[in-house]
Amino acid sequence: GKVRHYKFNVVMKNTTRLCASKQIVTVNGKFPGPTIYAREDDIVLIRVVNHVKYNVSIHWHGIRQLRTGWADGPAYITQCPIPPKQSYVYNFTVTGQRGTLLWHAHILWLRATVHGALVILPKIGVPYPFPKPDHEHVVVLAEWWKSDTEDVINEALKSGLAPNVSDAHTINGHPGPVSNCLSKGGYNLNVESGKSYMLRVINAALNEELFFKIAGHEMTVVEVDATYVKPFKTDTIVIGPGQTTNVIVTAGKGSGVYMVAASPFMDAPIAVDNSTATATLRYSGTKLTASTLTSTKPPPQNATVVANNFTDSLRSLNSKKYPAKVPLTIDRSLFFTVGLGINPCPTCKPANGSRVVASINNVTFVMPTTALLQAHFFNMKGVYTTDFPGNPPTTFNYTGTSSANMATTNGTKVLRLPYNATVQVVLQDTGFIAPENHPVHLHGFNFFAVGKGIGNFSPKTDPKKFNLVDPVERNTIGVPAGGWVAIRFRADNPGIWFMHCHLEVHTTWGLKMAFQVDNGKGPNESILPPPKDLPKC
Ligand code: C2O
Repeated sequence: GKVRHYKFNVVMKNTTRLCASKQIVTVNGKFPGPTIYAREDDIVLIRVVNHVKYNVSIHWHGIRQLRTGWADGPAYITQCPIPPKQSYVYNFTVTGQRGTLLWHAHILWLRATVHGALVILPKIGVPYPFPKPDHEHVVVLAEWWKSDTEDVINEALKSGLAPNVSDAHTINGHPGPVSNCLSKGGYNLNVESGKSYMLRVINAALNEELFFKIAGHEMTVVEVDATYVKPFKTDTIVIGPGQTTNVIVTAGKGSGVYMVAASPFMDAPIAVDNSTATATLRYSGTKLTASTLTSTKPPPQNATVVANNFTDSLRSLNSKKYPAKVPLTIDRSLFFTVGLGINPCPTCKPANGSRVVASINNVTFVMPTTALLQAHFFNMKGVYTTDFPGNPPTTFNYTGTSSANMATTNGTKVLRLPYNATVQVVLQDTGFIAPENHPVHLHGFNFFAVGKGIGNFSPKTDPKKFNLVDPVERNTIGVPAGGWVAIRFRADNPGIWFMHCHLEVHTTWGLKMAFQVDNGKGPNESILPPPKDLPKC
């Protein structure tokens, strides 16, 4: 592979959206940030220089980081953050992966504006497993708040309530025309009749799953989370934060301007949010006027059926060249409840300062002050414990009354996995406050989503229905509201790997844990030593 050098200057930038300006944290002054391009097998070196007042760290979401956990990025998990005025070089090799991923800040709520696309092209001479599109474009979906996003979360933690929902969604940085206040520079995609366009759609939003739709055009889905899928056609995709979806759109014989729309999806919305970001797809030679524009109405916020239709259609390509290597036998079977609860002891100090706590198996994760990977590698005692439970404290059986199962404990606990073990995790939404869809992300691995259901998972009957042939392979999966999803992976990557809900507010509230995968016995089965410039806590 080639060596690719990038420089990320983290700088404040005055930015205007929704007719108002504010200072935001950016990479190189851009929102969204720059796209990183690499090929499979390339070495990527990104020098991140911190010019802002916050501590910074950046995560390359979906990059496996085989033996190079030091470059993964989650603050206090695999590294101490980069302090102001200092820098750190993220150094990793892209092994066995190609497709669209994203990078984002992994500390505080900086991800709101510090994010961008990471495009991994196949090795030279290796074609896509589908007809080569004529053009490719990156489409980054995100959110915009009128106030400073650090203030949004800090006020929420102070009040003990949920943070405000964003004031707008964005497509490549712009909300599109919003009530009497035309956002300048709304995103436009110019197309020509007969040509095909691959859109690399990324959800970089903090707290929302999104629907994405183009008026008058079907999309052929070919890849999710940098893994190829069996192509299928759809008029709407649903995409959770941290997820990516490649679609191919073919421009017809037509002319005109077609609306592109992104709007929130939430199974059981606790906060109503119907704000739709818009962009345009414009046939060359057509001007945008009221009569040339074909608009579209995205599904309503709680359109679970639309979302399920989409996610249930996802299957691994599972071709000769790209086989789905689903673990067929399981060494470690884990059952994790994921959800929100109310801190049972309002006078005690909760882990995150909030009345609302979130947990996995009733453990609310407390961030350490030293990175777990450093503690692990250098055998430092007292930073974390290895007693993260493989099951909830009481058998989970949700019948609508839940107080007995709700009590959480605070802890910085990891769950140990032997190198190369095959692991199954059933992620069960508790639905204690309200059934909620949790897009859960696992660092360091791709996993196969072998099963999914509504209600309580049944260890007797549900595994019989698992798809062990061509389940979708990804790094972030929506746990259905009031239901469960089963994932499988092989623990073939030594290190400390974070797993958490990718709704940032749930991460803040404690819906997170980490796996410790022990070193193997072979020469290539151990964590590499840390780079010299690794930041100190
Ligand atoms: Cu995309 Cu731990 O995050």
